[in-house]
Amino acid sequence: MTFRPATNADALALLGIYNHYIETSNVTFDLDVWSTDDMAHKIETVSALGMPFIVAERDGELVGYAYLSTFREKAAYDTTMENTLYLRPDARGAGIGGTMLEELCRLGAIAGVREVVAVIANTPDAVPSIRLHDKAGFARVGEMHNVGRKFDEWIGVVMMQKSLARE
Ligand SMILES: CC(C)(COP(=O)(O)OP(=O)(O)OC[C@H]1O[C@@H](n2cnc3c(N)ncnc32)[C@H](O)[C@@H]1OP(=O)(O)O)[C@@H](O)C(=O)NCCC(=O)NCCS
Repeated sequence: MTFRPATNADALALLGIYNHYIETSNVTFDLDVWSTDDMAHKIETVSALGMPFIVAERDGELVGYAYLSTFREKAAYDTTMENTLYLRPDARGAGIGGTMLEELCRLGAIAGVREVVAVIANTPDAVPSIRLHDKAGFARVGEMHNVGRKFDEWIGVVMMQKSLARE
C-alpha cells in the first residue's frame, strides 16, 4: 500500500468511488452524484487550505482516498479539521482504512491540525467506519438525531474526535 497526494488527474477515479456510496448508502449525506468538476474542485480546495488529500494505491491501482477539510467556517475553528475517507468497495475489509487514517492524521499534524473530527452517519452502513475511528483513537464525543433524510429514512450522526496535539 502506498500513499501519494491526489491530483486533478485522479478526479475521475475518486468520483467512481464516491458516487457509488452516494447512490447506494447512507454513509454520505450527499443525495446527488458529483461531477468530475466537483471532485476536482474539492481537491483544489483542500490543497489551497494546506491540508492533506491523499490517495491509496495497491499494485498501482487507486483503491481509496482521504482528506481533511474545513470543520466549521468561522476562523477560530481553523486548527480543527473534519476527516473524510472512502475505499473502493472491493478494497474494504482488508485493514487499508486504518493505515490510510493513520497516514492522514500524521500529515494533518505536520500541517498544524490540532483536532480531527469525524461526523459519521449513525446507520448500519457506517458501523465499520465507527469501529475504524474507535480503533484509531477517536473518542465518541456526541450524537445528533434525525439531522439527515435519505432513502426515506431519518438519519442521525455520531461525532468522534481525535487530538493530534503533542503537549
Ligand atoms: C470505513 C472504511 C474506510 C473502513 O476501512 P476498512 O479498511 O474497510 O476497515 P477495516 O477492514 O479495518 O474494518 C474496520 C472495522 O469494522 C469492522 N466491521 C466491518 N464490517 C462490520 C459490520 N458489518 N459490523 C460490525 N463491524 C464491522 C471490522 O471487523 C473492523 O474491525 P476489527 O478490526 O475490530 O475487526 C471502509 O469500509 C469504507 O470505505 N467504507 C465505506 C465508506 C465510509 O463509510 N466512509 C467513512 C465515512 S465517515
